[in-house]
Amino acid sequence: MELGYISANNLSAYRSLLLPRAARAIEQGEALTAVGVAEGRLACGALAGFLEDGCFQIVSLYMAPDHRRKGGGRLMLDALADILHGLPGAGAMRADYAVTEPEHDALAPFFARMGFAPIDRRGQDVYLFTLGQAAASPLFAGDAAVSANIRAFSQIPNIYLAQADSRAKELGVPMSEATLISAGIDRDISVAVLQDKNVTAFLAFDRSVGGRLTIGSAWAGAGPMSMPAMLRGAFSLAMSKFPSETEMAAQAVSDIAARIIRGIIPDARPVSRSYYRKQGA
Ligand SMILES: CC(C)(COP(=O)(O)OP(=O)(O)OC[C@H]1O[C@@H](n2cnc3c(N)ncnc32)[C@H](O)[C@@H]1OP(=O)(O)O)[C@@H](O)C(=O)NCCC(=O)NCCS
Repeated sequence: MELGYISANNLSAYRSLLLPRAARAIEQGEALTAVGVAEGRLACGALAGFLEDGCFQIVSLYMAPDHRRKGGGRLMLDALADILHGLPGAGAMRADYAVTEPEHDALAPFFARMGFAPIDRRGQDVYLFTLGQAAASPLFAGDAAVSANIRAFSQIPNIYLAQADSRAKELGVPMSEATLISAGIDRDISVAVLQDKNVTAFLAFDRSVGGRLTIGSAWAGAGPMSMPAMLRGAFSLAMSKFPSETEMAAQAVSDIAARIIRGIIPDARPVSRSYYRKQGA
């Protein structure tokens, strides 16, 4: 296998092996280091990441299925370790990912073999669950009536959603979609609290985790009790649109968010993994 750098010049050969955000970063000349391997002039593997606070963060690692277990992954990682060796202050490598597809299972034994150790991610987890599990949540016990001022996005003029989007961003609410009115948002099950033409809280579903319906952005601006009410509203709308075995995802952005998800859906599966290796280990 031949090893080389990936740059804007040869990106087209490697694009399908890179996560879209890594390919975009290379295209736009951002400070991303990417190496690739080819067999018989056919690009078959890519590894990309960036250096932050002395740690190289791997953002994309992929070998094409027909070329696996031939040492390509090791070749790319060793090359990267050599590059980092020459950089002052580059002390470690780290990979954070979520196991959302069967082929992601190969990453854990690969990293373990390469001398990486798993680290506990605590709150920063992606959880997977089925709509049926969400519907069976303690949240639906007792009075499950949906509050009158909770509306699906499809019932709210875009201008109000856009205003709420700006307000939430000013407050630093993490948002996984570009905006609340992006095409990726499911407007039938995303809900918001609408008070006097003002969106004062929202729960937005996009498709950011492997194409699954994902709770990507949530803001309880109207008060903490708006969140259970919005979840109840969103899941009842989802149940009228999708079968109960539909797999869904939620991204916990903090310990508190993770605790809320586990409290609401005790059967939700955490699928995030982190591996870490000190340089020279
Ligand atoms: C993980 C991955 C990069 C490994 O690449 P690779 O070229 O097959 O790895 P290598 O051949 O260099 O393997 C090195 C060692 O890692 C271990 N390893 C790699 N794949 C393994 C697997 N599927 N099961 C168990 N051990 C594995 C082995 O010890 C292997 O050495 P060996 O073949 O001599 O036993 C590749 O399987 C892959 O791309 N999987 C999909 C990852 C993905 O979905 N990424 C997208 C999210 S960014």
